[in-house]
Amino acid sequence: MEKILVLDFGGQYNQLIARRVREQHVFAEIKSYDRISLMEIKKEDYQGIIFTGGPNSVYDAASPHYDPGILDLGIPILGICYGAQLLAYLSGGKVSSAENSSEYGKTLLKTEEHILFQDVAAESICWMSHTDYISAVPQGFRRIAYTDKCPCAAMADDERKLYAVQFHPEVTHTEYGRQILHNFLFSICGCQGDWNALDYADRAINEYRSKFAGKKVLLALSGGVDSSVAAVLLHKAIGQDLVCVFVDHGLLRKDEGDYVEETFKKTFGVNLIRVNAGDRFFGKLAGISDPETKRKIIGEEFIRVFEEEAKKIGHVHALAQGTIYPDVIESGKGASAVIKSHHNVGGLPDVISFDELVEPLKDFFKDEVRSVGLMLGLPKEIVFRQPFPGPGLAVRIMGEITEDKARMLQEADAIFREEIDKAHLDVMPDQYFAVLTDTHTVGVMGDARTYGYTVALRAVSTDDFMTAEWTRLPYEVLEKASSRITNEISGISRVVYDISSKPPATVEWE
Ligand code: XMP
Repeated sequence: MEKILVLDFGGQYNQLIARRVREQHVFAEIKSYDRISLMEIKKEDYQGIIFTGGPNSVYDAASPHYDPGILDLGIPILGICYGAQLLAYLSGGKVSSAENSSEYGKTLLKTEEHILFQDVAAESICWMSHTDYISAVPQGFRRIAYTDKCPCAAMADDERKLYAVQFHPEVTHTEYGRQILHNFLFSICGCQGDWNALDYADRAINEYRSKFAGKKVLLALSGGVDSSVAAVLLHKAIGQDLVCVFVDHGLLRKDEGDYVEETFKKTFGVNLIRVNAGDRFFGKLAGISDPETKRKIIGEEFIRVFEEEAKKIGHVHALAQGTIYPDVIESGKGASAVIKSHHNVGGLPDVISFDELVEPLKDFFKDEVRSVGLMLGLPKEIVFRQPFPGPGLAVRIMGEITEDKARMLQEADAIFREEIDKAHLDVMPDQYFAVLTDTHTVGVMGDARTYGYTVALRAVSTDDFMTAEWTRLPYEVLEKASSRITNEISGISRVVYDISSKPPATVEWE
């Protein structure tokens, strides 16, 4: 299978580069520069290599570098942004800092005739984001593009098939970015473009069928996109030998437990065990208000329930997980601070013994997981489901968690989601939900004074959930949701709308 290596130097767009390559039906994998050696690259038989951007300057002592031997492997290389500067540096060119004249944003790019710019206009818009620039083109290279501020916006050494672009072709603001990547992949690396996620999934199904037939495979199903697609894929491969355990911790959204059970058991005929463990979780959570302690209790209890069920099944050959590609990429950025401890349903239990771990989606990006899910016949409600945290509504109930509070929140959340769905908005928020705050306020109902909870509504628009904007929902939608929540749910006397973006806030309240 032909494939491209995206060598990651800590750039913010590393995943985007790989996705753009895959969109052109060429498999791409990301490896951090310090996790793959020159020897390993040689062994892998890559058609081409892309050096990503990165936040450093090539002359910083701590900046990520690579063995210059990579330039002599005979594999075409495209350096992007920092990757371009690194290529210049490794080839004996010069990189300088334009401290007072960084280029950032949409910039007019002037290109010369070159195979990399086949079918690219001589003048077009590109996306720039840099302070350093290539100030002396290394020997063997020639400049093939420039901007007003950047004397070398692209350079090429055709003999060694080394190319560098200072701008970001992977970003949609670069008008001809797709074409430039296409030229690199097809005209320079000689790719055929015969990869697609669906064939890849089909092959995995056949492989699992012969590998696991007659052996038990266990999967923790949460009803989220990833574990659902993994479940249906494995079910297609090995049928009843796949056993799914669905732990309902009582903190799911309204009717969600029944919907998951109905879909997988009745529609797909999956061998599903639903464990209604709400009482256990509420018992453990009684009297606890600290957000991290709540998360920890749920994570631990989840594993315990799962293990108990697994033991009843007997010997399990393999444990399956819905891990997806972004979960396994080790970024060249180094460790980043943990803001919240995320518990994902399906974290590895340590007392179940199994011979193998199977992760059928570990090579796929989220959008690819979704197309595989659709191909396998999963309903759109599951495939395009908004993210829902593993600890469920627990992170949306402030203070102590009780069954009553959970029920109240389920109702409020269902009303809010229903009103958003009914509004048929042109652009939907990427995530929207209700939060039950721990604040009581005075209200008036008929002639009586009330003193109920305050519900907060939250809707965010985002590409990657690392940053998010609060969504400007129409007032009418907010008004309808607010009035229904206070009228239909007893115990709630006020509704507020959360207008915080991330950062500084996070998407969830806890
Ligand atoms: P935050 O609150 O960190 O959320 O801005 C970012 C995204 O992650 C989801 N989230 C979780 N997902 N387990 C998950 O699987 C968790 O513990 C968890 N906490 C937050 C959140 O819903 C949002 O989409």
